[in-house]
Order: sequence, then structure tokens, then C-alpha cells
Amino acid sequence: MLQGKSILLGISGGIAVYKAAELLRLFVKAGASVHVVMTENAQRFVTPLTFQALSNNPVGCELFSMQSESQISHIQKARLPDLVVLAPATANLMAKMAAGIADDLLTTILLAATAPVLVCPAMNVKMWEHPATRRNLRTLTELGYKIEPPASGFLACQEEGAGRLAELCDIFESALRLLTPPTLAGRSVLISAGPTREYFDPVRFLSNPSSGKMGYALARIAARRSAKVVLVSGPVSLDCPSGVERVCVASALQMRDAIVELSAQQDAIVMTAAVSDYRPSELSAQKIKKSAEGFSVRFEPNPDILASLGQTKPPGQVLVGFAAETQNVFENAKDKLIRKNLDLIVANDLAKEGAGFGLDTNQVKIIGRNREPIDLALMTKDEVACEIWDRVERLLSGGEN
Ligand code: CTP
Repeated sequence: MLQGKSILLGISGGIAVYKAAELLRLFVKAGASVHVVMTENAQRFVTPLTFQALSNNPVGCELFSMQSESQISHIQKARLPDLVVLAPATANLMAKMAAGIADDLLTTILLAATAPVLVCPAMNVKMWEHPATRRNLRTLTELGYKIEPPASGFLACQEEGAGRLAELCDIFESALRLLTPPTLAGRSVLISAGPTREYFDPVRFLSNPSSGKMGYALARIAARRSAKVVLVSGPVSLDCPSGVERVCVASALQMRDAIVELSAQQDAIVMTAAVSDYRPSELSAQKIKKSAEGFSVRFEPNPDILASLGQTKPPGQVLVGFAAETQNVFENAKDKLIRKNLDLIVANDLAKEGAGFGLDTNQVKIIGRNREPIDLALMTKDEVACEIWDRVERLLSGGEN
């Protein structure tokens, strides 16, 4: 994900310094080359050696170091990265940045840096809420710095409140977003994901094994490309991707209501949800008791959400469906594309290895109205999501599908 990208990780002195080591590992694992610069106080918490070993690069600590100035000056260091991440960023570092002070290696680099800077504050709750810190935060935002707000919870200083360094996965996602071209900026997109549950008594339902992973990957990648993303999700055990608004539903009727309410303002809608085609005709108010004779449930059809979106589609909106098939994949999917008035349909053959429910990979065929279908190789669901958004973007800018 970060292959070929260069990140400068600036670390200032607070207890959260130990978390920066794990963040560095995430960046390195994703393929980035990382250079670390530490303030003097940061070195009191964790030694530069840790960061040198993890990054495989020398750690910058001093502004006027004979050795590092001869090899790579602070000005060169400032020119080097595609992104600067400050984690943890103390109240003191933020104050210096807001005032334009450059009195050590890190703050000097920051004044000369041209890359986007992601500031991840971590401090005591009182310091975070102090009017001076609020003012500095506003100044940093006005200056164009991106802020990853701290999380709330139990702090190292034995107090509760906002001030904990943001979750590392959220920092990582924000960094990825800053490094991804904003090709969906200004676009609103809606994605449906997961299964639906059709209850026939308070504790039992009809459902399917959809994990929601494909829909969540589409939401994550769209947010990374700077779209305004709403994810209408059936019950799944996945965290909401950062920067995505999630609407949780259970039944097909709830999913339909949530989607219909939001559909008109969307530039693109992608339906990955495995919507149950049927729901029980009756819902028992009480738990159905066991009986020796067995019992039967009568089902009635659910509305086809995608087909109704196809009928009311505003001009210019791109509508994408999924087709999970076990036979005649192309014919069945093409039929759904036409019947439901879609722009694209993504077909997967459930019989293929690596392309079933709950996996992290998928192998799909993307079928448009006018072009030859595209057979994609087996790839991760994030990669499939990138391929789908590439095509949606082409359609949104008036290209052929
Ligand atoms: N879909 C929907 N509402 C339904 C059923 C399906 O919006 N009640 C959407 C799915 O989200 C998917 C597409 O329609 O994007 C195709 O779903 P699929 O289950 O493959 O097709 P069905 O239309 O249900 O046809 P069949 O079950 O006969 O294959």
C-alpha cells in the first residue's frame, strides 16, 4: 500500500512515544521508507536505537550534528518525504508549530517541509482543553496541517478524558488518505454491505454468511480517495472504516428505508449487501416453543432494493450491483445488469477457490453495458475495490463503462 512512499515520523516527548514504535512498524510493513526525527524529550521515553532498528534508517536527533549535516541536512530531510506524521505531538510541539518556532531539528524541518503534515496530538486532558491549546489547534488547521484528534479514555496521568493518542489504525488510515490522490473528492457515495436478518421470533432469523468485507473495503477505499461515504450495513463484526458514516440496519425493509432516504443525493451507489430475498410472513411476539411435530415458517418476498434504485435513478448517478452466482455466471449477471437498470455489475463465481463468503480475497468479473467484461485475477478485496472505483470514476467523468 505504501510501496515507494517516504514518510518522516516526528516524535515529541510524551508517554505515548512507545506507541510510535508500533506505528513505525505499520508503515514499514506497508512498504514505506520511514525516517524518524525525535525531540530531546522524546528520547527520554524510548531510545533512538529502537526507532533506528525498526526503520533501518539513522534517527535524526540534533540540529547541528556534524555527521548528519554532512550526510543529509535538515533542509534535505524536509524535502525528502511524501508525508510527515507527528505522533505523538505534544502541546509544546503544537505551540511551537503554531508560532513558527524552529529551535530543534524537528521544528526546523517542519518549517521547511512542503509535504502534507499529519498531527496526532497526545497529552493530558486539561492540557488538551486549555484555551491556548485550542487556539494553537485552530491556527494549525488554518495553516493547512491535518489533525488526527486524540481518543478519549483512561490517560497515563490517571485522569479520564480526551488526550490519548488516536488509535494507530486510524492514524495509519489518515496517512494513507493523505498519500492517495483524491480522485473522488466532492463525490457522495453509498455502499450497502453485509447480510440482512429476517426475524420470525424474537431470537431467531433467516440470514446468510455474508461477512460484509467486500462492502467495507469499498467504503474504506472510497474514503481514502476523499469521497463522502455512507455505509448502510447489515449485522457484521467489522469496525466502521475511519472517515465513513455508518448506518446500521438488520432487516431488508430497514435497509431499503435507509437507502431510499439517502439515494437521491448520491453520485454512486454500490450494492454489495446479500439482501435476503424473503422474510417470514409472521413475526411471533414470543419465542416459539419446541414441539415434537416440528413447525413451518411461511416466507414472502422482500422488495428488490437495487431494482427499485434502477427505476428511480437520477441522471448521472452510477449504480453498481453484485451478483453472487454458482452457475452461468456471465449470463445471469448480465441479465441482472439489464433487468435492474445498472451501469456495472460485479459477478463472482461462488464455486471458485478464494471467492466465497467471508474471505479476504475475491475473484470477480466486472460487466458494463457496452464494453467487453473484464476478468480480474484473484486479489484482495481492497484491490478489487480499487478496480471497481476506477471504473465508477470513469463513468462519473462521462467515460464508457
Ligand atoms: N439485491 C437487492 N435487493 C434484494 C436482492 C438483491 O438490492 N432483495 C441486490 C444485491 O445487493 C446485489 C444484486 O441485487 O447487488 C444481486 O443480488 P443477487 O442475490 O445476486 O440476485 P437476486 O436479484 O436476488 O437474484 P437471484 O437470487 O435469483 O440470483
